[in-house]
Amino acid sequence: MITSKELRQKWISFYEEKGHVNIGAVSLIGDGTTGVMFNVAGMQPLMPYLLGQKHPAGTRLCNVQGCVRTVDIDSVGDATHFTFFEMMGNWSLGDYFKAEKTKWTFELLTEGFGLDKDKICSTVFEGNESAPRDEETAVYLKELGIRPENIYYLPKSDNWWELEGTVGTPCGPDNEWFYPRHDQPCGPNCGVTCGCGRYVEIGNDVYMQYRKTQTGYEPLANKNVDTGFGLDRMLVFLNGLDDGYKTDLFLPVIEKLEALSGKSYDDDPDARKAMRIIADHTRTAVMLIGDQNGIVPSNTGAGYILRRLLRRAIRYTRQLGVATSAMDEAAKIFIEDIYDEAYPLLVEKEEYILSELDKESEKFEAMLVQGIKEFEKCISSIVRKNEFMAKSNPDYQKETTIAGKAAFRLYDTYGFPVELTVEMAEERGYTVDMEGFEASFKEHQEISKAQGTFKGGLANHEQATTYLHTATHLLQAALRQVLSPDICQKGSNITEERLRFDFNFPRPMTAEEIKEVETLVNEKIKEDIPVVMKEMTYEEAKEEGFTGLFANKYGETVRTYAIGEFSKEMCGGPHAEHTGQLGTFKIQKEQSSAAGIRRIKAVLQ
Ligand code: ALA
Repeated sequence: MITSKELRQKWISFYEEKGHVNIGAVSLIGDGTTGVMFNVAGMQPLMPYLLGQKHPAGTRLCNVQGCVRTVDIDSVGDATHFTFFEMMGNWSLGDYFKAEKTKWTFELLTEGFGLDKDKICSTVFEGNESAPRDEETAVYLKELGIRPENIYYLPKSDNWWELEGTVGTPCGPDNEWFYPRHDQPCGPNCGVTCGCGRYVEIGNDVYMQYRKTQTGYEPLANKNVDTGFGLDRMLVFLNGLDDGYKTDLFLPVIEKLEALSGKSYDDDPDARKAMRIIADHTRTAVMLIGDQNGIVPSNTGAGYILRRLLRRAIRYTRQLGVATSAMDEAAKIFIEDIYDEAYPLLVEKEEYILSELDKESEKFEAMLVQGIKEFEKCISSIVRKNEFMAKSNPDYQKETTIAGKAAFRLYDTYGFPVELTVEMAEERGYTVDMEGFEASFKEHQEISKAQGTFKGGLANHEQATTYLHTATHLLQAALRQVLSPDICQKGSNITEERLRFDFNFPRPMTAEEIKEVETLVNEKIKEDIPVVMKEMTYEEAKEEGFTGLFANKYGETVRTYAIGEFSKEMCGGPHAEHTGQLGTFKIQKEQSSAAGIRRIKAVLQ
């Protein structure tokens, strides 16, 4: 048995012995430079150094870094998908390369963790027009004693690592490590590629020696190594388990949920799924709220993802038949018993984290009961219609779609994230008309805007926040011009009276700088520049120089808002039509928000 605490320790001490410096973990919230909302890999914060910048801690680094990946959120509920996980990493920044890396990974797996070298499988890049076949790694692997038949050459789709949808980021071929979960092959050709699931990927060594360009790849000055092994997954594997929720990172929480519900995790598949979702989503919520740049549930950006996670977890507490406070119970176990040593900040912020969970539960609970009733009404009316039609026409094709308008009503009146409605619908064999939902959404926005214009005089709530939102874009662009092009949004909050904007900057702004930013924003308002909205794919937006914090799946369309060439951001809107509508911009306060983060409060007069 190896515990999570021991595994973290073992990883770090192994690489420290090989001359690596433990650089610790950074915030889970993405820094905006890659357009990715959360930290999805240990290498993400190290991007500038992989591209050639000198790292203050040297050329050999290691850490254990928390990551959040929400692309797979719908798969959570099975045994292996988590929205939060820890990646054990180590890096060579132009220091050692393939010879040392293969040797050390092999040594750690065999001598360190006791894996059988004859069972280890390892895959390398087969080569294509951008990069050669990785014969070199294969030779080292053979020399180490890995059986030649256990070494596979695989194509780019398997053995090439890059941050999809990005340009200018480091990437390269990788060497992936696999091990069988048991000794019963599915047939004579059972192996890494047979698809039977016996072989589990335990981690990978990426040989980052290229930079992604618009059209292909170019060599980097340095040959780097980027290693990532999943702690949560390794723990399952090293303890001979086949379920991530049975490791010490989850088991106490699952046991608590069993006690509270009186249901059995092992014997009741529905209860098992609910317990996994509650546990996974609560853990991620705890990590995001308790992060050094912690966020809270909201209707935009990262805050919206957090809200989705929490509302989904809350729904499953009902399904499991426990009170919403079960989430608090789970959160306490994560904070006090499971992550207390690795994440002491969570313990410090415990009260705050629990109060945020409670606030969101209260908000949603109140609406949930009504919303579920409303949802059931939609289903019954479809069922009634189907029955009625089938009577007069035996060939009638049953309706199985929930109208977009109904889904919008659930969102607008009862706070149901549309994804939740889709999921509830799927459970009942229905789909949701998403185009109709989008159309209702737009129509609603236009009506609110029109109402704002009618009322005239003192701007109403909707209009005031819309204008402050546009002012926020101008402010960010001005900060980039006056302070540094690296400024990016760390948080934003708008009420009808004021905007609040958090951004990365290491020191207080001087009075001159504040004045200069204010003047620049007011100049742009006076120029009365049109605010132009355009929809395009995420990649196109990046190419055209739009910045933004988005959790979009790559390839999805995003909205972009351009204010001349001055400000170009991806954003959901809504915005003023032209800057002249904003009035006069005034900064009221510039203060510290957190370490390295400044906060500006400003108004429009
Ligand atoms: N960057 C590699 C990964 O995320 C190590 O798997």
